[in-house]
Amino acid sequence: MPIDISTPLALPCGATLRNRIAKAGLTEGLANLRNQATEAHCRLYRRWSLGGAGLLLTGNVLIDRSCMERPLNVAVDGNLDEGGRAALAAWARAGTEGGNAFWMQINHAGRKSPASITPQPVAPSAIPIGAAVGPGRARRHGVPRALDEGEIEALIDRYVATAVTAREAGFTGVQFHAAHGYLLAEFLSPLANHRQDEWGGALENRARMLLEVVRRARQALGADYPIGVKMNSADFQRGGFTPGEAEQVALWLQAAGVDLLELSGGSSESYAMLGQPGESEESALLTRSTAEREAYFVLFAEAMRKVLDMPVMVTGGFRSRRAMDAALAAGAVDIVGLGRPMCLEPDLPRRLLADRDAVAPSPEADMRPDPAAAPDDAPPAAVQAALARAPVAYFAEQMVEMGAGRAPDLKLGLYEAGRRYLEREAEAAAAWCAARADEAA
Ligand SMILES: Cc1cc2nc3c(=O)[nH]c(=O)nc-3n(C[C@H](O)[C@H](O)[C@H](O)COP(=O)(O)O)c2cc1C
Repeated sequence: MPIDISTPLALPCGATLRNRIAKAGLTEGLANLRNQATEAHCRLYRRWSLGGAGLLLTGNVLIDRSCMERPLNVAVDGNLDEGGRAALAAWARAGTEGGNAFWMQINHAGRKSPASITPQPVAPSAIPIGAAVGPGRARRHGVPRALDEGEIEALIDRYVATAVTAREAGFTGVQFHAAHGYLLAEFLSPLANHRQDEWGGALENRARMLLEVVRRARQALGADYPIGVKMNSADFQRGGFTPGEAEQVALWLQAAGVDLLELSGGSSESYAMLGQPGESEESALLTRSTAEREAYFVLFAEAMRKVLDMPVMVTGGFRSRRAMDAALAAGAVDIVGLGRPMCLEPDLPRRLLADRDAVAPSPEADMRPDPAAAPDDAPPAAVQAALARAPVAYFAEQMVEMGAGRAPDLKLGLYEAGRRYLEREAEAAAAWCAARADEAA
């Protein structure tokens, strides 16, 4: 029998995923001001858990409240009193109600932490976002300060402590986020990491932080607890992390006992993770992967699989059951990751499993944010900002809907999605900064 999306997968640690569909990490912004999980997380993940996927990943959970990806994401950083731990456990219970695996995605935002909450983020080097592509992209992020070696060591321990907290709360695995330009990806990238000590320069130095996190996590969690890593197949920027380097790091991760490698790509300087090829040497391969295999990174995974035994998950672009089955049967991937479609149809895995001709919704293919949808008196800069954010906000707003116990609102207008998202984020940033100041007082 050829492998298809319904085939269980045994991981190297001994755990089994009941099928080959995973809901990928999607940042929620649903935590309270102390960055604890809430009832909205429970409602959203119960919905997804009953939807039939073999694996659910949380959106990124931060290890350091002074460098968050968003003000209202969950963090594990000395902020969990008894109530906070109970909330985390309730989230883990809700996310496993359907019998699936539920892993916590663990992250440090590095220089991608927004300036509205982090005037000066930390990073491998004091290089701001946008330095490689021009100043336009840099406005939303402060100029980072380079971490010293003691801080790097302490952060490695924080990644591991967060993983231990996840296991104690009832999450059935963890995934370390080393993709999309966050801290671990910044260390991997020669564009963001100009260090001259043992954490920069040669690839083995740039990969040291990620490998130390995995090595210490394996030691702390034991041999039978699932550990995953999400890593870029490339940064899709000239001079960035390359597919050849990704392959070498993947081999090291395999040797360190990683159970599942999720491949993605890009950063806030290049949106490859959403299928935009950019202008790097690898871009033509991304375009070809999308055209031939539907998903953006399958051809990268296929090349890696020639030298790799570790299970590989690819996220980005998969929409039809046929393309998913074809990628699995070819041995190019072991798990199919789904992001945006899960925001629109939480029961999608069930439908895909039942029907070989099933196709997920993909409104992103022809999203044309229209300025005419904005009220006449809206300031042009605000309209432009809302429309620029709309293609992501449209999906993020559906998580807010489901978190409130409502069905996704597929008729939500693009301008309205972007406007609501930006308004909510600005209010959250102001309230969160005030609450942090109160906590410090
Ligand atoms: C609203 C939104 C939030 C996201 N948040 C995260 C995140 O927290 N962690 C992560 O690894 N990727 C995140 N991503 C990227 C997705 O996991 C995924 O790689 C991307 O959506 C491409 O997959 P898709 O074509 O199935 O949507 C996010 C994407 C979107 C649209």
